[in-house]
Amino acid sequence: MFRDRLNALDPSLLDHVETQTSYPDRRSLLALHAAVADRLGEFTYLEIGSHKGGSLQALVADERCRRIVSVDPRPERQPDDSLGPGGFATYPNNSTQEMLDLLAAVPGADMTKLETIELGTDEITPTDLERPDVCFIDGEHTHAAVLRDARFCREVLGGRGVVAFHDFSTVAGAIREFMHESRRARGYLLRDQVWVVEFGVPTLLTDSRVANQLKRPGWMWRPLNAVGAVPLLLRVNRLRKRLRRA
Ligand SMILES: C[S@@+](CC[C@H](N)C(=O)[O-])C[C@H]1O[C@@H](n2cnc3c(N)ncnc32)[C@H](O)[C@@H]1O
Repeated sequence: MFRDRLNALDPSLLDHVETQTSYPDRRSLLALHAAVADRLGEFTYLEIGSHKGGSLQALVADERCRRIVSVDPRPERQPDDSLGPGGFATYPNNSTQEMLDLLAAVPGADMTKLETIELGTDEITPTDLERPDVCFIDGEHTHAAVLRDARFCREVLGGRGVVAFHDFSTVAGAIREFMHESRRARGYLLRDQVWVVEFGVPTLLTDSRVANQLKRPGWMWRPLNAVGAVPLLLRVNRLRKRLRRA
């Protein structure tokens, strides 16, 4: 039942706990979840910025997600580039305990696999963590913090895995800088605001659930050089045609 709903990218899987993701975002996150789970059989997940646990609720309920680490220092207020220069976002009563209580009430939740860390990535040594397969970045929405979180994820992945970013429009500058310095990564945008970066793994775009969420079908970032980028764009287009025929 859970598996059928996940495969159908049923956004109501994310109805149990409040989340700041739109419905298209939810479908994209479920598509990544489903594709990674099917490919790896079981997988581990690291999230930076969890608030009430909205983006964790399908993961606690899926037995194929073996381990979850939630990194969130729970500041009283945080700078936020979407609110203009000097803007701050506040998350009233933002607490790890509230998140744990809400997630524990999700049908099928296994809370034993969830570890919470009330620190920022600037206070954690990446090698202290078990290597995750997937990271999701949705913490402080500033250029500096997103770049720091992305570099942290790249290191903790050890050259193999997937990093997804939320709120692409707000943090696009940091993502662009990260892509330029991550020379072996490929990236693409899923609806509505989810940027995905893949390191050293076959692309998830061979999974039609992910490919169908592409915001700009046929468009992929591969910052090798101008020559390297062209075959990749063509390859994605060929992939789209194959998926359309299937
Ligand atoms: C947009 S909310 C996360 C929403 C959640 N991912 C969801 O979809 O429901 C942002 C969260 O980032 C956390 N945060 C703030 N500064 C942070 C930092 N430096 N590192 C990690 N998380 C941070 C806040 O405490 C807040 O819980």
